Amino acid sequence: MDIFRKKSLEELLLTSQKQQLKKVLGPLDLTLLGIGAIIGTGIFVLTGVAAAEHAGPALVLSFIVAGLACVFAALCYAEFASTVPIAGSVYSYSYFTLGEGVAWLIGWDLILEYGLAVSAVGVGWSGYFQNLMAGFGFKLPVALSGSPGSAPGAVFNLPAFVIILLITWLLSQGIRESARVNNIMVFIKISVILVFIAVGVWYVKPANWTPFMPFGFGGVMTGAATIFFAYLGFDAVSTAAEEVKNPKRDLPIGIISSLAVCTLLYIVVSAVLTGMVPYHRLNVAAPVAFAMSTIGQDWFAGLISLGAITGMTTVLLVMLYGQVRLFFAMSRDGLMPTFFAKVHPIHQTPYTSTWVTGLACAAIAALVPLGTLAHLVNIGTLTAFVLVAVAVLILRKTHPNVPRAFTCPAVPLVPLLAVFFCGYLMLSLPAATWKMFALWLSVGVVVYLLYGRSHSLLAKGTQQD
Ligand code: ALA
Repeated sequence: MDIFRKKSLEELLLTSQKQQLKKVLGPLDLTLLGIGAIIGTGIFVLTGVAAAEHAGPALVLSFIVAGLACVFAALCYAEFASTVPIAGSVYSYSYFTLGEGVAWLIGWDLILEYGLAVSAVGVGWSGYFQNLMAGFGFKLPVALSGSPGSAPGAVFNLPAFVIILLITWLLSQGIRESARVNNIMVFIKISVILVFIAVGVWYVKPANWTPFMPFGFGGVMTGAATIFFAYLGFDAVSTAAEEVKNPKRDLPIGIISSLAVCTLLYIVVSAVLTGMVPYHRLNVAAPVAFAMSTIGQDWFAGLISLGAITGMTTVLLVMLYGQVRLFFAMSRDGLMPTFFAKVHPIHQTPYTSTWVTGLACAAIAALVPLGTLAHLVNIGTLTAFVLVAVAVLILRKTHPNVPRAFTCPAVPLVPLLAVFFCGYLMLSLPAATWKMFALWLSVGVVVYLLYGRSHSLLAKGTQQD
């Protein structure tokens, strides 16, 4: 059957060697790229609602649970990335372990993670930006301040639209330039978080931590499924595979160290935050800045808003980058129109694809109220994590001797734990999210049947044989 046709490992490696992307990234760039994609809306925005409505002070536990799910998945990602360093990440891994049909579906699913996350984070960015500007007395006309439905009279989210286009322009200039900007901004956002911890810790009142689990264990799990968004992005490191100087060694380092740094920061920040402010007061759009205001540190609150804006900018940068590299890989395989794989002769970036994707994400961010869609992004990502864990198990059976620069420890336990934790988080998401997800995958099946199945280069190759 067509949908089960698979690429051989040799074919995959050959494709990645023939590629024309520029190899410039090292382990530090990758770690910073990972942190760039990870720290953003999740910690600066979603912590508030997760603490106030779901987890209470046990938000720390939610971060630990979601972090564990990610660590297990990250170990699986690292094994794959070091074995098959190829753009397209889990899409490409599935192509030779599970076959074209699953690969397509997972590629389609990842559009939810990267593409929709770009739009969602663009909206979050716009909110913080307008907040900060209002502090200086600048206010946009209501019509241009949000998407239709987000506020009475709102028509178009101009700041979200503009920031995504600016990021698109930067990415189209080249990966080296983008990585440099990313590195500077990551430095700023980590400094701001460290300042928050260093100042906030003196204002922690242990009484705020009781009751610790006001919404019970169920609340902790729903909290974990919500703030899972905060961890999203370490996997984007693996989409950079073809632009890395020594991918087999550097990709695992980038994936695991960026996740480790962020997990540690998140656990400390959530403990300090819920210690500073009673959890039920945290249901605000900018909880971390709010905590600083409550202790009379307005100057620090402003600094944190600036850090949040910088943080979300790098998330936009890396997520958009990941989305474009994914389209690049899918188009190179014939499952997407060929222009997505065209590389600019001077900048050596997939230029057209960057602009088409950037414009689409900008338009969605400007016109669609994306509040509830964070859940959709989460379910898409969790599915990818489950698949990558399953694919590691399959790879160990089908290719036991292929050289792996990094091996996931304690197989099959770690992949199985990844499946268990991610599966559990998926089940904690609302039914409405599942329905939308099913709808999105059904559209994907139709697109594959109408386009990908017949245009697939693998299919053409098979037919010629
Ligand atoms: N982890 C990213 C964020 O929190 C998506 O913004």
